[in-house]
Amino acid sequence: MIIDHLDEPLPGSSLRPTPPGHAYTDPSIFASEQAEIFEKMWNCVLRADALPSVGHWKTVRIGREEVIVVRTRKAGVQAYFNVCAHRGMRVCTAAKGRSRTLQCGYHAWTYALEGDLVAAPNLTSMPDVDRQQYGLRRVQVREWLGYVWVCLAEEPPDFDEAVLGEVRTRFGEIESIDNYGIESLRCGKTKTYDVAANWKLIIENFMECYHCATIHPELTEVIPEFADGLASQRKNGEVHGSNFGQDVHGFTVDGSASGFGELPSIAPGQDRRYYAITVKPQVFINTVPDHVIIHRMFPVSESRTTVVCDWLFLPEVVAKAEADELDLTKSVELFHRVNRQDFEACELTQPSMSSKAYAGGGALVPSEHHIEEFHAWWYQTLGLRRDADAEDSAAAPPAPAPAA
Ligand SMILES: [Fe+2]
Repeated sequence: MIIDHLDEPLPGSSLRPTPPGHAYTDPSIFASEQAEIFEKMWNCVLRADALPSVGHWKTVRIGREEVIVVRTRKAGVQAYFNVCAHRGMRVCTAAKGRSRTLQCGYHAWTYALEGDLVAAPNLTSMPDVDRQQYGLRRVQVREWLGYVWVCLAEEPPDFDEAVLGEVRTRFGEIESIDNYGIESLRCGKTKTYDVAANWKLIIENFMECYHCATIHPELTEVIPEFADGLASQRKNGEVHGSNFGQDVHGFTVDGSASGFGELPSIAPGQDRRYYAITVKPQVFINTVPDHVIIHRMFPVSESRTTVVCDWLFLPEVVAKAEADELDLTKSVELFHRVNRQDFEACELTQPSMSSKAYAGGGALVPSEHHIEEFHAWWYQTLGLRRDADAEDSAAAPPAPAPAA
């Protein structure tokens, strides 16, 4: 769904090319994406309050690696490769747990929550073993918006520049996302979607609203301007919100329910608007006056992506919902339907990516032209080039090829 479009019509053809079909099906391209994108950039992996107290841990997949994220005694939330320094066995073999230490089940090498090796059979007879060096290998961690973000790169991109900068560019002033106080909201509902589609199809779908009139009847009822296919307009480099319809009471499944009041510090201009941004490579942030919806994507293969969607509300709203004093269903149901509609469209697109009919790729209409920015970033990050950019094949369809 959604997002920004260029204000100025582009010169030349109405239609601009997409990458070819095999960009979405080739396992070697997917391996490059894992190595060059997901293993080098900041990934938003879990809500920090999912690790409520010391010793709580979860395992997450990032790129081709598995990572333990744990709340430590002394150092807040930390993350490590889930690889024993001794012989390499997975240290944590479940999706989540709570323990005083992290112990490998193979030879009982035991690590402090802070990562150092603290015990192992006969370790005292090996005084030369450096307990830091043979600790768990650390992964870079940041917390922002109440989420734990990790980066596997030894020298991660500057978080402020890479993540906050992306939000600044897309959302406008950083203060405008701060208005929602996302870090202090609580998760009222989480849904996990196993989507049989390449992760790029999901991003491209999120970046345009050309499809909104066709597949999102409930969403266009609440935000009528989405039916025009142009949404969350970008002016002066900033995304401006999309207005609720006149008779709409709130961002709920039929617009008849008002939601749960406004988040306390949103600006007057944000009180009846929807904003959406993509934080590359795997996060979508959607804000409405009374709640925030955040998607995290975890590519599994070239044709499969796990998407985890959180609905975040004020803590008192979630507490009342837990006490059965109010019902979040009408708020959650709206974007759940949008998700299912979007993911079904992506799943019906994925098989065609290997069709002869799509070998040369497809087309972007003017309201989708901004998706070319995503494609340009993708080509550049993978060190690929479009054939269309090559001097000797200007008329050829674009195809990833190793950079010369
Ligand atoms: Fe959509």
